Amino acid sequence: MIKVDVSNVISEVEIEKYQSKVTEINKMIDDRSGAGNDYLGWTTWPKDYDKEELVRLLKDAKYVRENFDVLVVAGIGGSYLGAKCALDALKGLKGSDKPEIFFMGQTFSPNYTHQVLEYLKDKNFAINVISKSGTTTETSIAFRLLKDLLEKKVGKEKARKAIYAVTDKEKGALKTLCNNEGYSTYVLPGNIGGRYSVLTPVGLFPLAVAGVDVKAMLQGSLDALNDLDNDDLKTNIAYRYAVSRDYMYRHHRPVEMFVTYEPQMSQLSEWLKQLFGESEGKEKKGLLPTSATFSTDLHSLGQFIQDGSPLLFETIVNIVNPELDVVIPSDKDDLDGLNYLAGKTLSYVNQNAFKGTLKAHQEDGGVPCNIITVDKLDAYNLGYLFYFFMRTCAMSAYLLDINPFNQPGVEIYKKNMFHLLGKKGY
Ligand code: PA5
Repeated sequence: MIKVDVSNVISEVEIEKYQSKVTEINKMIDDRSGAGNDYLGWTTWPKDYDKEELVRLLKDAKYVRENFDVLVVAGIGGSYLGAKCALDALKGLKGSDKPEIFFMGQTFSPNYTHQVLEYLKDKNFAINVISKSGTTTETSIAFRLLKDLLEKKVGKEKARKAIYAVTDKEKGALKTLCNNEGYSTYVLPGNIGGRYSVLTPVGLFPLAVAGVDVKAMLQGSLDALNDLDNDDLKTNIAYRYAVSRDYMYRHHRPVEMFVTYEPQMSQLSEWLKQLFGESEGKEKKGLLPTSATFSTDLHSLGQFIQDGSPLLFETIVNIVNPELDVVIPSDKDDLDGLNYLAGKTLSYVNQNAFKGTLKAHQEDGGVPCNIITVDKLDAYNLGYLFYFFMRTCAMSAYLLDINPFNQPGVEIYKKNMFHLLGKKGY
């Protein structure tokens, strides 16, 4: 159901040259012996996840669905992007019907935060706070504001029953708060980092509340695990894609542009930017992940991609069969000259825009393009894609001799900000 074509980026002969290195790294991943190996829990999570916790999570999600108008998810980075991506991809631009899902804590924006809080004032809302460390400032401020509003609105007792947390099993300020207050809590396992956590309660709780079939998503990821946990570069699509990326990096194409023709998938690009950017961008190495949504961006970035500095290659995620479609009507006067398309669907036009653009970029622009073909957008395929990309990312980072699971650079802005804010010890 998911096909990956790297033939425009790297030849079979060049792929073959990576085989021994890939075999070595794959063994390192399976043996959990490489850099950052205490964060490899996600590799077997689709079969190891806590089945009892999932039952409880689904029961609570059903309760929230049936009893609240809004769920506000407070989290940032890996504690937010996966759920946001899946929600957009599977529920469309309109989002979940009931309850509505809002995100907070992914920004310090006073405008955004004020507007969400105002909106919530007369809404019956629940809170899902997500933080592995339990100390992230953006999330903590958002949670303090939300908790305060909720407690003032419904009282401390009722608020307690409307707060659901995802955090570490034992560490962190949020865990202490949950223990003290008795909030329902789900575990983000210690051996899974934020950006590899979308298939844990971090992604699953808000998605289950939104009515997404999270069991199908987990099944997709399990099938991906079964397909991709091997070192065969002839068939392993994650590793074929990983070596194509490495090949581009080493052949002076340091920018990867994730392209979609489906705006509902734009948030997948955001999730991918974090996954690859935070995993690989270290020690002055790594591809710069960027993104575009076509055809919208063909009328902005299209010119640069076609004719500008030859820095980038594309990775296109092409969804072949949309869930919904629109037929172009006939017009008796045909003043706009569109009758040649009358009776055709927008997906037919979109697919031809994809094919025409691909030819233009590859053949005329000389831009190498990977193509990931997905037959349709559903929870199963998305689960498969999440696992596929995480496996690609681990291999890619190890090919660069980078630890994929830390983010030392992110700490520096925090230190500076804490110093400026007057936090004790900074
Ligand atoms: O991938 C990561 O580890 C980060 O992006 C984190 O998810 C992000 O910083 C949020 O951290 P926390 O869940 O501890 O609040």
